Amino acid sequence: MQPMIQFQNVTKSFGTQVVLNHISFEIPAGKLTVILGPSGEGKSVLLKHIIGLMKPDEGKVIVDGVDLWSLSDKERTEFRKKFGMLFQSAALFDSMTVFENVAFPIREHTSLSEEEIKSKVLEKLKMVGLEKAIDKIPSELSGGMRKRVGLARAIALEPKILLYDEPTTGLDPLMTESINQLIYETQKKLNGQNSVTSVVISHDVESTFRVADLVVLLYRGQIIAEGRPDDFKNGKFTHPFVKEFLRGHFEKNI
Ligand SMILES: Nc1ncnc2c1ncn2[C@@H]1O[C@H](COP(=O)(O)OP(=O)(O)OP(=O)(O)O)[C@@H](O)[C@H]1O
Ligand SMILES: [Mg+2]
Repeated sequence: MQPMIQFQNVTKSFGTQVVLNHISFEIPAGKLTVILGPSGEGKSVLLKHIIGLMKPDEGKVIVDGVDLWSLSDKERTEFRKKFGMLFQSAALFDSMTVFENVAFPIREHTSLSEEEIKSKVLEKLKMVGLEKAIDKIPSELSGGMRKRVGLARAIALEPKILLYDEPTTGLDPLMTESINQLIYETQKKLNGQNSVTSVVISHDVESTFRVADLVVLLYRGQIIAEGRPDDFKNGKFTHPFVKEFLRGHFEKNI
């Protein structure tokens, strides 16, 4: 199957700082891929290249067979409808209700009737277990509830590609588990309907390894390991940083 996302020799620098250094890798369609790496190594920069918010200095980013930078600005904005994104902070509109937050992208990008919008929003809120919070505003919700609203909003347009930037950072272990489960279930539920590709950016090794089909490790501007969780557990990768990054994470599970 054709990969959903391809990085072809992508380089990105800010001044003299090379953040992505000739990166090539593929994200398969219909799977859940986790991009791991220490803080400040370029994970968010990588994500911004996937949705075409940043342009590579060199190389290409191909999404669903389309070179993002061969499109006009208008076409690229239109193309972004394929994406749903859960921001690290959830990035909800503070003065809007939960309903209006989730309805927002639907109103922006479709001409559905009010009734159709309502039924879509309700369906998504049910998926994240928040239909009772529909009339609350963000300040009346817990952190984990806000993330779930962010997730409902991300999936509102039934995107082909879901991007999550550090969905569990700053959450307690129980909430981390519940958000991971939600990401996993969303992948499975939507997958049956329209084959979703999910990309989770994280530095949380343990929780993300449980949900990943494929793991990509970013270090010093390069992909130093790319494979299934088992490949990591079985010591397939020899780069010394792979061992260092994973130290203490698998021994207790084996
Ligand atoms: N717009 C920008 N202008 C200049 N430098 C930037 C810009 N965006 C990111 N950087 C730099 O690129 C590097 C990678 O940043 P990025 O946000 O991708 O890290 P990250 O891996 O997501 O880290 P974290 O895990 O802490 O979120 C950092 O050194 C950052 O300062
Ligand atoms: Mg980041």
